[in-house]
Amino acid sequence: MELMAQIIGLVNQKGGVAKTTTGINLAAYLAALGKYVLLVDIDPQANATSGVGLDSQTVPLNLYHSLIGGLLPEEIIRKTALFGYDIMPAAPDLAGATVELVSQPNREFKLYELLRRIRTNYDYILIDCPPSLGLLTINGLVAADEVIIPVQCEYYALEGLGQLLRTIELVQENLASPTKIKGALLTMYDRRNKLSRQVRKEMERNFSGHVFSAVIPRCVKLAEAPSFGQSILQYNPHSKGAKAYRQLAQEIISLDK
Ligand SMILES: Nc1ncnc2c1ncn2[C@@H]1O[C@H](COP(=O)(O)OP(=O)(O)OP(=O)(O)O)[C@@H](O)[C@H]1O
Ligand SMILES: [Mg+2]
Repeated sequence: MELMAQIIGLVNQKGGVAKTTTGINLAAYLAALGKYVLLVDIDPQANATSGVGLDSQTVPLNLYHSLIGGLLPEEIIRKTALFGYDIMPAAPDLAGATVELVSQPNREFKLYELLRRIRTNYDYILIDCPPSLGLLTINGLVAADEVIIPVQCEYYALEGLGQLLRTIELVQENLASPTKIKGALLTMYDRRNKLSRQVRKEMERNFSGHVFSAVIPRCVKLAEAPSFGQSILQYNPHSKGAKAYRQLAQEIISLDK
């Protein structure tokens, strides 16, 4: 059967809202539920790369070599320890890509072009974006069919969301990219905390119908897993964080039916 991946960007220019944690663990559960998944790390911090157990210092080839060096995506993609779960690794080199891309034609479409070639190998391609609205993230938005916006349940949660939504609109209009919002994902939720409950209410008001039912609780196991190069499915599948990411994966699969 010919596959045709749905390409989903994990975007929020705010740092530390769980874009990478969501990328690593959503990919793991989509794979566990029988899907072929590619996680694309477009962040020079390379946290998704190290989070699945690769050392970005020693991985010889990374996204930089494809975006700038012209290597085929197949040449840089690596398998992870989980069946059906591949990664396109990043490395700190990628920071320089922004500067090198600026002078190139179609600089916003480089990632789109790369992923277009390999779409038929996967069910889902997840793009872990850096915490900025710079050229790498714009490449992520153009390449993505849809975006998931992780939102950390804290005081400044909604700050910057307006700017993010305007950027998505600009990409839709000026770059003729049909990128849609798949949903906002509440992360680091603490139900005993009044603020968490307020953020949830606010989000449900602002993104009515577009907030995932799966809510990711604050869970220390989720924070520990990457230091072992493991997803939560491998590190602690019984934790509440694991259950929440499993639920998110199921929700995404059922939305696509
Ligand atoms: N549900 C959670 N419970 C506890 N800690 C979490 C949870 N989700 C993420 N974290 C931790 O919060 C920090 C930020 O998460 P993460 O790196 O996924 O965010 P990010 O949005 O990718 O950050 P950046 O913007 O720097 O790329 C990490 O230390 C991570 O382990
Ligand atoms: Mg990250």
